[in-house]
Formats: sequence, C-alpha cells, structure tokens
Amino acid sequence: MSIVKHVNPHVMKVSPYQPGRPIEEVARELGIDPENIIKLASNESPLGPSPKAMRAMKKACSEMHRYPDGGAYYLRKRISEHYNLPPDYFIFGCGSNELIEFIGHSLLYPGASAVMSEKAFVIYKIICGMFGAEAVEVPMKGLTHNLRAMLKAIKEDTRVVFVCNPNNPTGTMVKEKDVRKFMDKVPDHVLVVFDEAYAEITYKRMPDTLSYVREKRNVIVLRSFSKAYGLAGLRVGYGMAKPEIIQVLEKSRQPFNVNSMAQIAAAAALDDQGFVSRSRRTYKKGAQLIMKACSEMGLVFEPPVANFMLIKVGNGFEVFNELQKKGVIVRPMAPYKLPEWIRVSIGTEAENLRFLSALKTIVSP
Ligand SMILES: Cc1ncc(COP(=O)(O)O)c(C=O)c1O
Repeated sequence: MSIVKHVNPHVMKVSPYQPGRPIEEVARELGIDPENIIKLASNESPLGPSPKAMRAMKKACSEMHRYPDGGAYYLRKRISEHYNLPPDYFIFGCGSNELIEFIGHSLLYPGASAVMSEKAFVIYKIICGMFGAEAVEVPMKGLTHNLRAMLKAIKEDTRVVFVCNPNNPTGTMVKEKDVRKFMDKVPDHVLVVFDEAYAEITYKRMPDTLSYVREKRNVIVLRSFSKAYGLAGLRVGYGMAKPEIIQVLEKSRQPFNVNSMAQIAAAAALDDQGFVSRSRRTYKKGAQLIMKACSEMGLVFEPPVANFMLIKVGNGFEVFNELQKKGVIVRPMAPYKLPEWIRVSIGTEAENLRFLSALKTIVSP
C-alpha cells in the first residue's frame, strides 16, 4: 500500500515553492558555459558577500567540528547592540523563511486564518496550506498592499496578518501613515508580521515598525542577512518581537537551526555598514539605468525601492525563456497572476547592461 495515502492532507495539497533557477542548472540544460550566464532572479547581492563576513568566516574554519551555539550568544549580543533592543527580543532562523514557518507552527492551524495581499510573497500562502489554515488573499491597490482592505478582511479566526514591505514581487512599499492607521485599528487577537527582508537596502524611507515592537504590541519584524549583507547562501534571518512572542516561536525551533558559520558571518556583517551603503548606491544607480532604458523601449514598469523591479513585457514566460537562452535568468511572474510581467533583480552595471541589451532584442526586434 502506498504511504502517500496516509500523508497529512494539508501537506499533500501544498505546491512547492519555485525558486529562481540556479546558474549551473540552466547551464546544464542549455549547454551554455556557466561563466556566460548571469542570474538576476533571486534578489541576491551582485557585490558578493560582505567582505568583513568573509574574513570572519575564513578565520572560523578550524572550529567547524563543534555544534553551533543554539542560543546564538554572540550574534544575539551584537544585534541587540545594533538595534538597541534587549537580547530576548530576537529569534534567529535558517533564513527569515524559517521564521515564517515558526509562525505557522504556533498560530496557523485548521480553523485559523491569515490575511495577506493577493500578490504578496508566496511563502505565506504555502505555510498556511501546510498547517491547514485559510489564506485570506486581499486584492491590492494597483501593485501596493491595500492596508485598509486587509484590516477589513480580519475575522474572529484570524491569527496572523502578513505585511511584506517592500513587497516581493511587486517591489512596492506601504507608507508610514497607512501603517499607522492600520496599527491604530488592528485587533489584539492577531499577530502583525512585517516582513522586511529588504529594509536596509531601500532608498525610500521605511515605516518605523520597530516602534511597535518597542511598545510591546503584537508585532514581529522579520529581517534577513540574505539581501543587504550578501549572505543568502548561509541562510540566516531574524525576528524582533516582545519576549512573550519570541518564547512561543522558540518552541518550534530546532536546537541548531542556524549554523556556526552563519552566526559568525552575520555578527561580522553587522559591522560592515559601509558594504550596505555601497550596495544601496549600486541598486539606486542600477534602477535609474533600467528605468531609463525601459522608458526608451516603451515598457511599463514599477519604479523600484530596493534591489528588484517588475517590468511589463507582454508574454512574461516567453520573455523569461528567450532571456534564458541568451544567458540571462530572471523570474516570470505568472505564478503571481501577473503573466505579462517579469521580475528582474538589479545587478552590477555590467549585468544590468547585458540584461537590457538582451531584453531589447526580444521586445523590440
Ligand atoms: C519578502 C521576503 N521575505 C523573506 C524572504 C526569505 O529570505 P531569507 O533568505 O532570509 O529566507 C525573501 C527572499 O527572497 C523575501 O523576498
């Protein structure tokens, strides 16, 4: 008898996440030299990892026979100074994705629901499905969260509201005043999750959501070392919330979920704010270049605020395929019900120019 028959029905219904395609995989499939492929598909750092993190990792190699410190003492101490928040306000995850899963373990179950935008980061919906909770998807205003409608969508059984800001994949940001109005009215029986994976590299001012954490509201702010510090391969993210919330989420954390190398690199990266500023400047300049070129090609786009942007290209999947044949990996947006769009990560100047010249040959032959 097949064991599949006995699998948790919630898990069985989940459609796994489709990540950006790795360079090596595309190279194997198309018989192209990986050296000739650029990946602008996963909002990764085009400047590599933080140099300070790399130096710290090299030094740490000889200690890798030890298990990690499950409590992440040094990283916790360093990050607590960085934010001027007590150490017990932090929880660390194998990427901020794992923190979303901890939230699912604790607050999402059959009979509970979570509110999110219809075009928000898809992991929220996947996690709802995995735990048998209802995902209440709220239409956006254009490509931006409609916080007023999200507030109205909260029901008695709602346990979580996900506010992805800036939102991946649409690249839009909600305004401080809209967040304030939302927070003034949000009921006490829900946890508001501000997913701010791109916070440090935005070149527009972010709403001050940490003030709600300091006020001990039912809020968790999620951030990541993957984007601003270029450490996506190490998998380290963190959540900031009042200790009562952190203690609940800690219950589903495996003891060694964040490896030693990741802890060491992340602590060192926090001292590399010069790298973060350099990255931000690279993205801002790259965004200007791509926007100008798109305007010249007559393409509609969503002006970015961080390191990725949406461009309306006609048939998104076809353009994604054609770009891939030319060694440029981007993301088709059909899975987000945006079949005419692609999402491109902002790269180095050379990568941006290569993307634009490939795009030009496809959309205006
Ligand atoms: C909005 C958002 N949240 C979370 C994540 C996950 O980041 P991490 O690498 O920290 O798991 C991503 C990654 O792309 C993201 O875009």
